[in-house]
Amino acid sequence: MSAVEQSVGTGTVADLPYLDMESEDFFAAPYERLDAMRRQSWAARSAMGVVLLSHKAIQDLYADPRLRQPGIEVFKFQGVTEGPAYDWWETHLVHLEGQTHTRIRRLVAGAFSPKSVDRYRERMRTQVRELAAMLPVDEPFDFVERYADPLPIGVTCAILGVDPADVAKFGKWAGDVTRIAPTQLKENLPVIEDALRALFDYVEYLVERRRREMGDDLVSELLRSQEGGNRLSLDELKSLIVLLLVGGLDTTRFALAWCLVTFLDRPEDWDELAAHPELAPSVAEEMLRYRPAIMENFRFTKVDVTYAGITIPANTLLSISTAAANWDDACAANGSEFQLHRPPSQHISFGKGSHFCLGASLARAELEETLRTLPALMNPIRWEGEARYRIPRMISGPEKVPMSFSRRAG
Ligand code: HEM
Repeated sequence: MSAVEQSVGTGTVADLPYLDMESEDFFAAPYERLDAMRRQSWAARSAMGVVLLSHKAIQDLYADPRLRQPGIEVFKFQGVTEGPAYDWWETHLVHLEGQTHTRIRRLVAGAFSPKSVDRYRERMRTQVRELAAMLPVDEPFDFVERYADPLPIGVTCAILGVDPADVAKFGKWAGDVTRIAPTQLKENLPVIEDALRALFDYVEYLVERRRREMGDDLVSELLRSQEGGNRLSLDELKSLIVLLLVGGLDTTRFALAWCLVTFLDRPEDWDELAAHPELAPSVAEEMLRYRPAIMENFRFTKVDVTYAGITIPANTLLSISTAAANWDDACAANGSEFQLHRPPSQHISFGKGSHFCLGASLARAELEETLRTLPALMNPIRWEGEARYRIPRMISGPEKVPMSFSRRAG
């Protein structure tokens, strides 16, 4: 589509088909419903605004300067206008824009590069192996409870240099803060605020300790981060570390849980992966594409935006449907299929543009190590009941995966 075609708008949002994302029908098969709607139209209307569906429209608009992060409005919308959660949300990286955002990203990007993350590989492998070794053999267990939940928190604590004795309480606070997702914010607020206060105090202790004696952990790395005399303030550092915790927990947990849910229905693929652990990095990418833990991301239009003949008014909430775009043939041929030998795709599971996921290398590494280790250990894997899923909006995926396995010979 040419720039001229994109800028001439005769249609309105009312001309887009309607997608009911709150219905039982949608909840029962969200990926399939989004896929079907994307085949019909590049965008749809929903109860909250406009849903962008096609890979091309999302590629074109994701990082468009006419859009902005939802920011603090989701809080105000729910009547929350002050307090520690409000203050943190207002100033954390995802909601910053322009020069302030660029300055912080430049300071910390190096600490999250694939090379930097590789320095923590051994600690990550230790966490993976320890958790795998503790899984019950030949008896039912919940994969989320025993592996997908503890791994990201264990890895994050190991990387941040949290004392092993404090990991459990750190994990509890971090888990409480993840309840900050916009829905039901108000009723969860007291728990979230208590956890935030505790986390900020603990992070301050970590920072003070590393200021006295640097180590080979991420806090020391972030303290060293500076450019042209510019460095992070203590408040920026605390806000960032809490964001890393919160941003990396639910997302990575769901991504790990999706791996097992997917392979529980594909025993032959699981065996092939066990025989070919070198496939782990590309299979991790395919898992991220096929079942993105952040199914949709949000933006607001700052001004009227015309695209493909439709004018979307200023201040419209846009749901950027990663789930729909990742299944588009423009992203991956026969995108609705999981393929063990999928060539690289153009998935957008980590976002696009200036807010591209800071923890992408870390999340990829956790998936890769898991996909190298578990298939070699488990043979076969079996369902032991029904999986339970979080409502398929925003950050979502399997919350319970009852399964069992026998130990692989050799
Ligand atoms: C499978 C796991 C993960 C997925 C699917 C994921 C996805 C995303 C997405 C889509 C964004 C873009 C947000 C936006 O544009 O509004 C993002 C940003 C971010 N992610 Fe992740 N993420 C994952 C894991 C992690 C981990 C492990 C960490 C921490 C170590 C992390 C830290 C961040 C941070 C700090 C940002 C904000 C970057 C910025 O605004 O500049 N993420 N993530």
